[in-house]
Amino acid sequence: ELGEYAHYMLKEIHEQPVAVADTLEGRIAGGKILTQIFGVDAERLLADTQAVHIIACGTSYHAGLVARYWIEQLAGVPCTAEIASEYRYRDPVVREGTLFLTISQSGETADTLAALKLAKERPYLARMAVCNVPESSIVRESALVLMTRAGPEIGVASTKAFTTQLVALALFSLALARAKGLDDERYSDGVRQLERLPGHIAEVLKLDEEIKELAEQFIGKHHALFLGRGTHWPVAMEGALKLKEISYIHAEAYAAGELKHGPLALVDEDMPVIAVAPNDRLIDKLKSNLEEVRARGGVLYAFVDETVAHGLDAARVVILPASGEIAAPIISTIPLQLLSYHVAVQRGTDVDQPRNLAKSVTVE
Ligand code: M6R
Repeated sequence: ELGEYAHYMLKEIHEQPVAVADTLEGRIAGGKILTQIFGVDAERLLADTQAVHIIACGTSYHAGLVARYWIEQLAGVPCTAEIASEYRYRDPVVREGTLFLTISQSGETADTLAALKLAKERPYLARMAVCNVPESSIVRESALVLMTRAGPEIGVASTKAFTTQLVALALFSLALARAKGLDDERYSDGVRQLERLPGHIAEVLKLDEEIKELAEQFIGKHHALFLGRGTHWPVAMEGALKLKEISYIHAEAYAAGELKHGPLALVDEDMPVIAVAPNDRLIDKLKSNLEEVRARGGVLYAFVDETVAHGLDAARVVILPASGEIAAPIISTIPLQLLSYHVAVQRGTDVDQPRNLAKSVTVE
């Protein structure tokens, strides 16, 4: 089943152009997102949605954090994203018109499922799930479902499930935004970015060899710091989770603006700093954060699009295609997956089955 690949994780990373294309298949026609893909009565539901509560765990939670930026930016609808194990033990205030949205690859994660069951007793507008397993418990308990079509994910470290979740969430964010009056130009541009994604991902996968070589510099490291801003902060969080999960290197992610508030004290030549950035309105801010890192002797690795790379003082700059505000967090995720994969392989860990972890966390 592995074919030409040494591990399921690598195979699943390389399946992403197809998994993303499958997740988009039949969901866009004539440059528009088909509202019925969210279920019957979705038109009314989108119009009535006045807030969104996103609940998930692990990687799926990171997808939710990215979606929070999109939903507020594009639709102007207030949105929170929260881990299920916290949500289920507090008393959230649910305002009228709030949509409850769970995200789960397996559809069986105990905390997410428990949160969903609790939500049934709360005055939500509706319960929607983004999920990869059609016959799962979370799908059965949700009124509205948007399936990711990643196919089976065997590697414990989530890769194609994450990027297809982002695609599903982008479809939802754009459809909601349209219902709330997003202008033609931004809407069509967002849809086009999604349509171009499979090609852009295939392009980024060609960086495999370059990243494999870069990974050698991490073999002996004990710590790493990931930085991003905006939608790239959760991308940095996902990069850090991937690295710690499979290579056992301690990794943390920070919103770059927080550096001065503590983590800058950790930066020296033994703490590699990995920054991910598209060319967006936060780029100048991020660049000055990165200069602070360099000024303290930090070794910086930057994954940026070519318009940003110019004049960037870093040990290594990996160039990504410019893909637009919706596609960028998906594109930037790919090199971080490859990085943790190659670091783990070179450290000799069990990539597909990391110690102490299970693919599906069905107990609390
Ligand atoms: O199946 P789910 O998406 O609900 O799983 C949630 C987390 O357990 C999962 O994303 C976990 O964090 C991954 N192993 C990360 O790679």
